[in-house]
Amino acid sequence: MDTNRRDFLMGALWMGAAAATVGCTSGKARTACCAGAPGCMSGYADKPFKELRVGVVGLGRGSLGIDLGKFPNVKITAICDITQSRIDRALARCAKNKIPTPRIFTGSPEAWKQMCEWDQVDLVYNGTPWQLHVPIALYAMEHGKHVVVEVPSALTLDDCWALVETSERTRRHCMQLENCCYGETEMLALNMCRQGLFGTLVHGEGAYIHDLRKSCYGKFDPATGSGGYWDYWRLRYNRAHGGNQYPTHGLGPICIDMDINRGDNFDYLVSVDSIQAGFQEYGKGKFGAGSPEAGWKVKMGDMNTTIIKTKLGRTIMVQHNVTGPRPYSRINLISGTKGMLQDYPLRIALEKVLGEGAHAFNEKETAELREKYKHPLWKTAGEYAKIHGGHGGMDFLMLLRLAWCLQMGQPLDMNVYDLAAWCSLNELTEKSADSRGRSMDVPDFTRGAWKTQKPWGFEDVDLAKMGLNLQKG
Ligand SMILES: NC(=O)c1ccc[n+]([C@@H]2O[C@H](COP(=O)([O-])OP(=O)(O)OC[C@H]3O[C@@H](n4cnc5c(N)ncnc54)[C@H](O)[C@@H]3O)[C@@H](O)[C@H]2O)c1
Repeated sequence: MDTNRRDFLMGALWMGAAAATVGCTSGKARTACCAGAPGCMSGYADKPFKELRVGVVGLGRGSLGIDLGKFPNVKITAICDITQSRIDRALARCAKNKIPTPRIFTGSPEAWKQMCEWDQVDLVYNGTPWQLHVPIALYAMEHGKHVVVEVPSALTLDDCWALVETSERTRRHCMQLENCCYGETEMLALNMCRQGLFGTLVHGEGAYIHDLRKSCYGKFDPATGSGGYWDYWRLRYNRAHGGNQYPTHGLGPICIDMDINRGDNFDYLVSVDSIQAGFQEYGKGKFGAGSPEAGWKVKMGDMNTTIIKTKLGRTIMVQHNVTGPRPYSRINLISGTKGMLQDYPLRIALEKVLGEGAHAFNEKETAELREKYKHPLWKTAGEYAKIHGGHGGMDFLMLLRLAWCLQMGQPLDMNVYDLAAWCSLNELTEKSADSRGRSMDVPDFTRGAWKTQKPWGFEDVDLAKMGLNLQKG
C-alpha cells in the first residue's frame, strides 16, 4: 500500500474515533428551553472573572488564543499540541508578548484531556482541526471549563445538539470563534441595520470563496509546522463530504443583522453542489497524472450554493468555493426596503426619498457613510486592531470582546444556539445537495427562546475599565 493511501485510511479511522467520543444523540426528544428557564443559555452570564486563566489547544490558527494573554488579568496557563514545532512557535509568541511561559500538554493525541482536567484553566480555546472540535469542547465543559471553538465548531446535527445539551446541563459557555462578525464591513453593516438605514431587512448573501488548493494538497511538515494542513485533515473531510463545509464566515454576520435566534430564526434551506473539477484538475496538474494525488476522489463540489428561508420570510444565500482561482470574497451583502450594502469592494446604496430608487452605487457617498456609521467597537479599538490584529483587525476585536464579557460577567456575544444554528448547515446542505436540492427543515436549537431573546445592540468595551491602554500596548 502506498504511503499516501495508508495516510488517508489512517485518517479515516482517526475521524471515526473522534465521532465515537461524541456519542449519538439523534432521535432523542428535545426538552423545552424557554427564556429564563434554568438551563437556557440565551443571555447566560457567569460570575465576573477577576483573573481569567486560558488553556489553548491546536497551535496553528489556535495560537491566536495566546494573544488573550496580552490583556490585563488574563493568564495563558496552558498550551497543547502534538506537533513540537507548533509548540515552539507558540512559546516564541508568548515570549514576544511578555506572556509568562505556560504549562505544556503534549506527547499524546489525547493530551488535551489533561489540560481540560487541570484546575488552573477556566477557558479552553480550541483551535484544532474540525474533527476534534466537538470531542474537546464536550470534554472541557464536562470538566467545568468554558470553551470557545474555531469554525466550524460542529459538523453534524447530532454534534450541534450534543454541544447545546452539554452547555445547558453544565452551565458552561460554548462559543464559536466567528471572527468575521467583528469585521469592519460587517460591523458597519450591523450598525446601519440597527439604525434602520436599510429599512426592513429582506435578503442577505454571504460566502467563503478562498483558493485553498495549495494548503489542502500541501504536505504538512512536522519539523517546521508549515506546508499544508496537519495530516491533510481538511482534504480528508472535503473528499468524504459535499455541501457547504465552511458556512459561518459569510453567514454569521448576516444572522446577527437579521436577529437569528433573537427575533427571527431559520426555517428551511435548499442547497445545490456544482461538479467537482477544481481539486481533481489541481491534483493531476500539480502532481502528475500517475501520482496518488491525481487519483484522490473528492466528493465536495467546487461551488455549493444554499438558500435559507427564515421564519419571518427573509432569504439568505450562502456560497462555498475553495477549489479554484477566484479572488477572496465573503460577499457581505445585506439588503432591505430602503437600501443595501455589499462588499468586495464595499458599496452602499440608500434610497433617500420613498420610491425614488437607489439605482447606482456612489463611491463618494460610500466613503462618507463608512466613516459616519463606523461601529462603536471599531471607533474604540479599530485602528489599533488593524495594526496589531490579524484579518484586518477582526481577530483582535473578537478577543477583546471575549475578554471583556468574561471579565465583566456579561453574556458572550455568540452563544451555543448561534453555534448550532450556523453549523447545522454542514449536515443539512450536504443532505439537501445529495437529494437534488430537497428542502431541509433547520432545527430550532433554542426551542422557542428565539422569540423573546434580545438582539445584539451596539457592543463595545470600556478600555479604561479593562486597564488597557492600546497606545502603549
Ligand atoms: N477563523 C478563522 O479565520 C480561521 C482561520 C484559519 C483556520 N481556522 C480554523 O482553525 C482550525 C485549525 O486550522 P489550522 O489552519 O490552524 O490547521 P493546522 O492544520 O495548521 O493546525 C492544526 C493544529 O492542530 C494540532 N493537532 C492535531 N491533532 C491534535 C491533537 N490531537 N491534540 C492537540 N493538537 C492537535 C496540529 O499539530 C496543528 O498544530 C480549523 O477549525 C480551521 O477551520 C479559522
